[in-house]
Amino acid sequence: MKTEIERKLAADFESSYGKEPLLIARAPGRLEILGNHTDYNEGFVLSAAVEQSTFFAISPSKGDICRIFSSGWKDKPEEFSISTLEEKTPGDWKNYVKGVLCEIRRRGFQFGSFDAGVISDLPLSSGMSSSAALEISACLAFEKAFGLDFSPVERAKIGQASENKYIGVKTGLLDQFSSIFGKKDSLILCDFRENKVLRNVSIPQGYSIIVVNSMIKHDLVDSDYNTRRKSCERAAAEIAKFAKNVRTLRDVDSKFLEEFRGKLHIVDYRRARHIVEENERVLSAVSYLEKGDILSFGKLLFDSHESSRINFENSCPELDYLIEIAHSLPGCIGARLSGGGFGGISIHLVKDDEAGKYARRIQAAYLLKTGIKTDALLCRAGGGAECAEKK
Ligand code: GLA
Repeated sequence: MKTEIERKLAADFESSYGKEPLLIARAPGRLEILGNHTDYNEGFVLSAAVEQSTFFAISPSKGDICRIFSSGWKDKPEEFSISTLEEKTPGDWKNYVKGVLCEIRRRGFQFGSFDAGVISDLPLSSGMSSSAALEISACLAFEKAFGLDFSPVERAKIGQASENKYIGVKTGLLDQFSSIFGKKDSLILCDFRENKVLRNVSIPQGYSIIVVNSMIKHDLVDSDYNTRRKSCERAAAEIAKFAKNVRTLRDVDSKFLEEFRGKLHIVDYRRARHIVEENERVLSAVSYLEKGDILSFGKLLFDSHESSRINFENSCPELDYLIEIAHSLPGCIGARLSGGGFGGISIHLVKDDEAGKYARRIQAAYLLKTGIKTDALLCRAGGGAECAEKK
């Protein structure tokens, strides 16, 4: 059964190419619940796939030219050639698709040309990983259309490598992992040293996650993301000079880090402190959730934001203001920025019966203070990527 959004994509596909798509693959966006910038430090993250997704329709074609459109955004099909995949135009949305193809080819696999179409109900560039959703839905569609079959972890790595090498942001595996391994009504606890999902953690009954967008453009390509990563790696390398068992910040706990306070550059120390404490917060969060101690879990969300603000400096005044409002409104038990930061979204854990009122109030307060009209989206944890249709 096609959903409404898939029906629209299939109809647009038919009117663009005069044929039905062979199949449609779906990949969701994600919410980073706790564990900020810990993934590329081989640490832990608690995340969820959301129901909002990107859908990628495909039908193989002949020759060298691939055509692709994006419903409601770049409606007219655009073209690129298979023989010049490595050529990229900066800022072009098709780079995310071409990057995936380059990574598939780098792994020694062949594919032909195709007609494709994309549709999404994920907010773009906001911190819900619309780029990973595009990469993963594209990869899944290419696999099914050209008879390839990657393991889910390899598929995640293809998405990540395309982002690292083609787009040029040194992101970790969190976004692709969450999009692939997400579970309905559940959070997933991932270990990014082992690259695996350790377990699913139930979302407490009676609470909703409201996503409030700061509307400050979140675009990791232009951000300090890579600088933050370098700082973390420098801190780990410095500590490793004195402690042989340390490979990444994953191997450091907060007590041990204190011994290095004077030895690290103050900025690197603060970045490292954020990571080390985030890892500890993720593990405490899981145990609080499993004990049903939702209030302590909520406090960790607030603590995480404070650490982003002070130590990692990946917040911004608008996000800080959203969290300030969260502290003052009834019904919210925890809130923080979510994702790369420097703008983008914040997540708010709110009692179900207060959720509607909370969403309206936070929008009003934000508008009053900043003059910015924002969205407040009720998000539910959805299932991971799938290939919705094969005829
Ligand atoms: C972005 C990156 C992820 C992760 C988060 C921060 O979403 O793509 O790999 O590092 O930021 O936790």
